[in-house]
Amino acid sequence: MMKSIIFDLDGVIVFTDMYHYAAWKKLADSKGIYFDETINNRLRGVSRMESLEIVLEKYEGSPLSGEEKAALAAEKNDCYRKLLSGMKPDDVSKEVRDTLALLKKRGHRLAIGSSSKNAREILDRVGLIDFFDAISDGNNISQSKPHPEVFLKAAEYLGVCPGSCVVVEDAYAGIDAAKEAGMTAIAVGDAASYEKADYVLEMFSDLAEIKMNY
Ligand code: BG6
Ligand code: MG
Repeated sequence: MMKSIIFDLDGVIVFTDMYHYAAWKKLADSKGIYFDETINNRLRGVSRMESLEIVLEKYEGSPLSGEEKAALAAEKNDCYRKLLSGMKPDDVSKEVRDTLALLKKRGHRLAIGSSSKNAREILDRVGLIDFFDAISDGNNISQSKPHPEVFLKAAEYLGVCPGSCVVVEDAYAGIDAAKEAGMTAIAVGDAASYEKADYVLEMFSDLAEIKMNY
């Protein structure tokens, strides 16, 4: 039996994490809120509204109402979506595309497990929307990573049991979510230093070297 593989999207398949950073930074600067890459790393895998709460930890103004917070999140998302609008198939590297194609050819079922509500638009823009057998994203969950819901939903959509899935993630919160779901956790990028990961990839293409049948 071949394992099913669930990929996080932002920071794993595409480097939209830099657009998230740029959009949060613009919002923070416009409101006089300190924001840097270390704070940004805490936003990986975390939902938009939870990310806003982390950004607001450095906010020193008068308390904000729920409506004001929603407006700030919308402002960030508008800026982020403008950056996304320039994305095209070239934004997925040849290495990532070739590795995904190889894994699919070997018979693995592939899914997306992303906290983002913009996941389908991104996949559409880079020409990968029909490549995955299932997409679980920010629109079908009520709790974001480190809660396992997004990965458990992906397994459900694939029609497989969680124990037969591996997850590829760049976020600490995503590695925690994968382990909590009873899945094998493979770390790339920022998550590579996280000791809870079962495997660490130096390069995305190394994924094809990991034994993933059972
Ligand atoms: C995750 C990102 O994939 O999606 C987070 O790692 C982001 O940084 C989250 O906050 C929600 O994204 P969106 O597109 O719904 O604002
Ligand atoms: Mg990510």
